[in-house]
Amino acid sequence: MKVEVVYQNTNTAQTVIYLFRQEDTLIERLQSFPFADFLVQDFKAEAKQTHLFYQGNQKVFFLGLGKSPKESDYIKVLRSFFYKQKKDLPDTVALNLTLGGIETEWISAIVNGVVLGDYDLGLYKTEGIPPTFFGKNTSLQIVVEEANAELAQQQAFRGEATAWTQIRIMDLMNAPSNKKSPESLGDWALDSGTKYGYLVKVYDEIECAEMGLQALLGVSAGSKNPPRFIVLEYKHPEATQKIGLVGKGVTFDTGGVSLKQSTNMHYMKSDMGGAAAVLGTIELAAKLQLPVHVIGVIPSTENSIDGLALKPGDVIGSFSGKTIEVIDTDAEGRLILADGLSYIIKNFQPDVLIDLATLTGSCVATLGYHAAGMFTNNEKLAASLYHSGQQTGEKLWRLPLWDDYKDELKSDVADVKNFHGKPFAGAIVAAKFLEVFVDKHPSWAHLDIAGTAFGDSEFGTMKSSTAYGVRLLIEWLRTRG
Ligand code: BES
Ligand code: ZN
Ligand code: ZN
Repeated sequence: MKVEVVYQNTNTAQTVIYLFRQEDTLIERLQSFPFADFLVQDFKAEAKQTHLFYQGNQKVFFLGLGKSPKESDYIKVLRSFFYKQKKDLPDTVALNLTLGGIETEWISAIVNGVVLGDYDLGLYKTEGIPPTFFGKNTSLQIVVEEANAELAQQQAFRGEATAWTQIRIMDLMNAPSNKKSPESLGDWALDSGTKYGYLVKVYDEIECAEMGLQALLGVSAGSKNPPRFIVLEYKHPEATQKIGLVGKGVTFDTGGVSLKQSTNMHYMKSDMGGAAAVLGTIELAAKLQLPVHVIGVIPSTENSIDGLALKPGDVIGSFSGKTIEVIDTDAEGRLILADGLSYIIKNFQPDVLIDLATLTGSCVATLGYHAAGMFTNNEKLAASLYHSGQQTGEKLWRLPLWDDYKDELKSDVADVKNFHGKPFAGAIVAAKFLEVFVDKHPSWAHLDIAGTAFGDSEFGTMKSSTAYGVRLLIEWLRTRG
């Protein structure tokens, strides 16, 4: 498989795809094709609209992008087109961007969408090999004007590199709990670090105990799969600021003794979406050699249930030294994040600290599947993260961290309790809990990605990983001033 940038339509491509935006100039743009009048009638360049015809010895597709497409629209359109067509595509496909006047800056998104279209969920099927385009010895030619070729090349590289990391992240998140564990997340990180040249240290259960990660150990007490505490560090020599990322790595969340209902429990294999976002961001930052210094911390465990599992009302310690009354064992994410946050602050003193977690159903009830909840004490950070969300389509919407909610976490017996036991403001109270362990860090953001990490798509009939957070954080890292 290769993606190459070319200046002219070559005849080696048996299939050519032209991209068009829905804009006033569309009619003129279509004039260079035979039967232009029919084309004008049939093809309006609506998002995902396709039109197929034959010209000489080539199969020609027109593909519509809709009106004023943004980064996420380019990705969506190309991804769904390639997902549907991949099994029928020949070995060489050209994607012509010249006639539709597509600016070079979108090539990253375009290539990203093309490669993501190769994704398939059917990993464990025994019959029928999943169709693929890039798995074969194929080539994708991106046809651009000669003057734009160099930029196009860089863009294509970024789009492709991003997609392969996203696909690896999607595989991790979509893996069922019997095919992944805290240990295998650690192994994933070690492999990635070796391959892309960054540091990874994975602490096992005994080391976690020695380090005093008592909240993490508390959550993992009911599971036979031992916990891991994963620390990653990518440092470019030109970096000036230290960025800390913490991701919730619960490889399955049964709820523990406060057991979840069974209806949607299978989706809880995705409860390591925060960890996945951190792993993907650091891998991709290293691949792209971004001039940044990023430290990732991933507390990883299963939230299972057996005789030794935490029970409601139990009091546990934490890395910070604070004690926690566990009112609800299903509010486990905040417990392990508490240890992750105080650990990263104590050991690395990051200038900016961002945590990502599939933390609350309440956040899904509030924002649905289109935006993650953002909680932060820093206006600049709020603005820059919001902007990156708009840019990438991995959107964020800010929710309050007001102290009015603080009293909800007062415990009679311990320093803090993990749940207020009330059916309102769940996402906010969870964020207030985390704030207790952030120790007045001046630039912290908590992103509740419960609604955005797993979603509906053309890949399947049920929800699957969106790799949410990788493009968001990479864009944010790339554009930090
Ligand atoms: N992992 C869940 C949150 C979640 C819900 C993620 C839906 C993705 C989709 C989390 O650990 C959880 O169970 N939260 C509880 C907290 C409650 C018991 C305080 C919730 O939101 O119901
Ligand atoms: Zn839970
Ligand atoms: Zn959870």
